[in-house]
Order: sequence, then C-alpha cells, then structure tokens
Amino acid sequence: MATNSRGQFNSRLGFVLAAAGSAVGLGNIWKFPFEVGDGGGAAFVVIYLAFCFLLCFPVMISEIAIGRKTQLNAVGAFKKLGHKNWAWIGLLGILAGVFILSFYNVVAGWAFGYFLEMAQGNFDFQSPEKFGAFIADWHHIFLYGLVFMAVTAFIVSRGIKGGIEKAAKILMPSLFAMIIGLMLYAFTLDNAMDGIKYYLVPDFSAITGEVIYSALGQAFFSLSLGMGALITYGSYVSRKQDIVRSAALITITDVSVAFLAGLMIFPFVAFLSSGNMDDVSGGAGLIFMTLPGVFESLGPLLGKIIGAVFFLLLSFAALTSTVSLLEVPVAYLVDEKKIKRPVAVWGTASFIFLLGIPSLLGHGAVDWLSSFMTLYKDGQEANASFMDFVELIASDTFLPLGGTMIAIFTAYVWKKHNLNAELMEGRATQSKWLLNYINFAVMIFCPLILGTITIITVLERF
Ligand code: PHE
Repeated sequence: MATNSRGQFNSRLGFVLAAAGSAVGLGNIWKFPFEVGDGGGAAFVVIYLAFCFLLCFPVMISEIAIGRKTQLNAVGAFKKLGHKNWAWIGLLGILAGVFILSFYNVVAGWAFGYFLEMAQGNFDFQSPEKFGAFIADWHHIFLYGLVFMAVTAFIVSRGIKGGIEKAAKILMPSLFAMIIGLMLYAFTLDNAMDGIKYYLVPDFSAITGEVIYSALGQAFFSLSLGMGALITYGSYVSRKQDIVRSAALITITDVSVAFLAGLMIFPFVAFLSSGNMDDVSGGAGLIFMTLPGVFESLGPLLGKIIGAVFFLLLSFAALTSTVSLLEVPVAYLVDEKKIKRPVAVWGTASFIFLLGIPSLLGHGAVDWLSSFMTLYKDGQEANASFMDFVELIASDTFLPLGGTMIAIFTAYVWKKHNLNAELMEGRATQSKWLLNYINFAVMIFCPLILGTITIITVLERF
C-alpha cells in the first residue's frame, strides 16, 4: 500500500507489469515490423537486438534508479540529483513525450477503428488504396482518437497504480498468446519460409547509416526510454525491489513481443505476396494491410472473432503505453507546478489531442500535411507526412539524445557509487558481472556509442 503521498505500485509485479505495459504497444506490433521492412529485413533485426540489450538496458536501469532515488518527476529528479541546470534533460523528455503521444494516439485510433471493422466482418483493407481511404476518412479517425485520449485521461486522472495493474495482468498475457497462436498458423501457410528467411537471415550489405539510426530510434521508442517515462514510473517503486532484475524482465518481455510479432507478420506477408519479399516496405500500413487478409482466410465467422479480439488487445496494449506517455507531463505539472491532478490531466490531454490533429489530417485528408517534406531513403527521394516528421524529431532524435544524456548524467553528475548504492537496495542476487557491465556501459560504452550515433544523426538531418 501507499507509504507516502505520491503512492506506490501495490505489488512487486505491479511495477514490472505497468512498465512492461508502457513498453509493449504499437511500437512492437505496428512499428517494429514496418521498420524491419524499411530497413531491409534481418540485418535490421540483429542491430536492433544488440542495441536493446547492450545500450538500452543500462539506460533503463539508470532511469529507474534515478526515479526511485528522488521520488520525483522527470524534471525534478535531475534538479535534485544534479543542479537546476540539468532540468533541461527532463524538459526535453517531456517535450518528446508530448509529441510522441500526439501521433501515437492517432495510430491507436486506427487500431481501435479496426476492432470495429473486423467485428463487422469488414476485411477489405488489403490494398494501399483501401487502407489509404480508411486513414484519410478523418471524421471517423478523429472520433476514435478522441475516445482513445479520453479513456487514457480517465485512467491517468485516477492514478496509474490502480486499475491498469489489474487489467494488464490478464490482457497482456492474452495478447502474447494470441500472437503465438497466429504465428503458428502463419507457419502452416504457403511460402511462409520466404518470410522467415527475410526476417532471420541477415544480409549485412543492407546496413546503411539510415538503418543504424532507425534501429536505435526504434529500440528507444519500443522500450519507452530516453524521455523520463521510467524515471516517473520508477518514482513509484518500493525500495524492496530489485531494479536490475525488474529492468531485465521489462526488456526481455518487450523484445520478445516485438520479435514474435515479426515472426508472425513476415510469413503472412510472404503468403499474401506468393513469396515475393522484394518490396515489403508497406510503411505505416504494413500490419493494417496484411492482417485483414489473414483474418479473412480464416473464414467469415472465425475471422471476425479472431480479427476483432486481436485489434481489441492491440488497442489495450496501446492504452497502457498512452497512459505512461501522459503520466510524464502530468507528474511534472503536479510535482513542480503544484497543479491539481485532474486539471493537469484533462488540460494536458486536450492540448496533446489538438497537437495531434495535423498528424491525423496528414494521411490523405490534407495534401500538404500528407507530403510535408522530402526524405532520402536508399538514395531516393520519398515523400514524408507530418506524422513522419514528428516521429523523426521526437522519437528518432530526442529519445537517443535523452538516453545519451541520462547515461552521462548518471555516470558523471550523480556518480557511479550512488547508482550502485541504489541498485544494491532490494538486490536479490550478488552476481557482480552484470553490475560491472552496467557501470562500464553507463560510463563509457553508452556515452561513446550512443553519443556518436546521435551526433552523426543530428548533423546529417538538420
Ligand atoms: N514503448 C511504447 C510502444 O512501443 C511507446 C512509448 C514510447 C511509450 C515512449 C512511452 C514512452 O508502443
């Protein structure tokens, strides 16, 4: 039970579930597969996995430790352990979170809309034109997004530690089971092997700078890192918990869901394209165009049921992520600006919803928002939407930048011995090698590698 006025997670499992709920979301099931497609397949997967375990995991531990030590929001925590001049790292994170939620909520609206469509047996979304018509129909998407943001705000206004813990306990394992079921079904289909090869047999010549930083951005995005979400959640964690073990559980859960989602989707893609994996890119529409065809192949009744349940569970996974995204600015306003929780919640949610409108309209409804800028992919010019633009700044750039700064801050401002003391509290095992690696990573490896990639990315892009 709560031991101070900020409240705590009720059980040991509660924190891991809430943080895993934050991590597992559209990033795993929607974004990861199409990033793999854009990044040319298995080579992307290998780099992504290496980033998650070698670079992101130590940053995650730092975030949780900073949060638990200070019991504060993302901005307050840096001020308390460092100096008020460090607050900007937290502010950058809050800004990233606000922008990420603005487009994330739009995609969550698509997922929710698909739940309604599948439930009615409407599987006709398999061409870019059909899917394009769905997302361009802004009246509907506006409504779905509004519902989604309102539910998110409702949960956050009641405090994140109550209902969401309980719901996550049942719904997350259901989603996991569903992905495994669909994956096994995918393996039985014609040409499945071509999809699996594409996903698992790396062609390292496909690696470019673009692939490396989108894999890094994806790793941070998927693990909810680099913006203080886990500082905020960490501030509600009891001192009896083993931070290292919790972070390992969160990372493994998140990576497994993404990995399995890929193992499910690429055999389906191969099945529907008769084994032709040459142009998988599909972009943001990949799962939304692929899965309806799969559900249709199950027959009208079964397809309806499995399809509707799948998108309902996906919407729920998205909800546990939107809740954590909204919690970051709200905790800041409540702690630092002494604004009442309900006012902070509904005010911030309304603001972010409005901020998301250009992302919502930039999928066919309004031309200039739909082709907002030009990007270079594989040496070719490609149109990018307003949403792509926000993603590029907030998630692909700000998150790795935040991660670099968090590592540097932990190692050189807060200092290694303070981190280690925090990690020893509640530590269940005494094994030294992991702690040694974490120290090495925070002090040298993360600042060096993360810093270099981030600087190169920023210089190339802007
Ligand atoms: N990790 C979430 C997902 O993969 C998105 C997210 C990013 C949530 C950053 C919180 C903070 O869907």
